[in-house]
Amino acid sequence: MKIAIDGPASSGKTSLGRHLATRYDCLFVDTGAMYRALALGVDRGLALDEIEIMLTEEGKIFLNGEDVTASLRSRRIDQLSSEMAIDPKVRRKLVRIQQQLAKERDVVMEGRDIGTVVLPDAEIKIFLTATPSERAQRRAREHGCLDIDAIANEIAVRDARDIDRSISPLKPAKDAITIVTNKKSLEEVALEAIDLIEKRIEHL
Ligand code: DC
Repeated sequence: MKIAIDGPASSGKTSLGRHLATRYDCLFVDTGAMYRALALGVDRGLALDEIEIMLTEEGKIFLNGEDVTASLRSRRIDQLSSEMAIDPKVRRKLVRIQQQLAKERDVVMEGRDIGTVVLPDAEIKIFLTATPSERAQRRAREHGCLDIDAIANEIAVRDARDIDRSISPLKPAKDAITIVTNKKSLEEVALEAIDLIEKRIEHL
């Protein structure tokens, strides 16, 4: 089974993805973390073809053999990964790895282009959204940052890059179900998603 979860930054994809992966015994693939690890490599002066990204069962991300999981969530990497993600060479390199993972295992994969480009044949496609202000508040909490306006501006710039890029722009797949996560707990969002998945499984 392949479950694709797409949506903008801080819409709740990672929390839902982890939850569903545990419930359905799938490998959880956070593709945003792969773009982040690649951006970290470029930031360290590596060329694209010198970069090797690997993901473990436990969700750790390795950059050329080094566990960089703890270094990926900074505002600098927010920004750099967003800029790098418009490069077709970057996307080709990471999409290849993502598709290979889904050949080997049942996956819950989250990102921006999973239902549309990476796994167009996924049995379940979920598109998560929340208002920009709710997403900015979540991100600010995650960064321990009080300047919500600055975070909101950064998110708006990243949203625009995701939506406007010519290759693999952020959009719901035609057969995706949209869940709005505003003011909902993880449990509430997960219940909606599980309801959808169970109905879909009945018809497979
Ligand atoms: O989901 P995230 O914020 O960790 O993703 C980091 C950046 O990577 C984000 O700005 C957009 C980009 N990205 C992408 O273009 N395609 C994906 N499938 C996943 C992330």
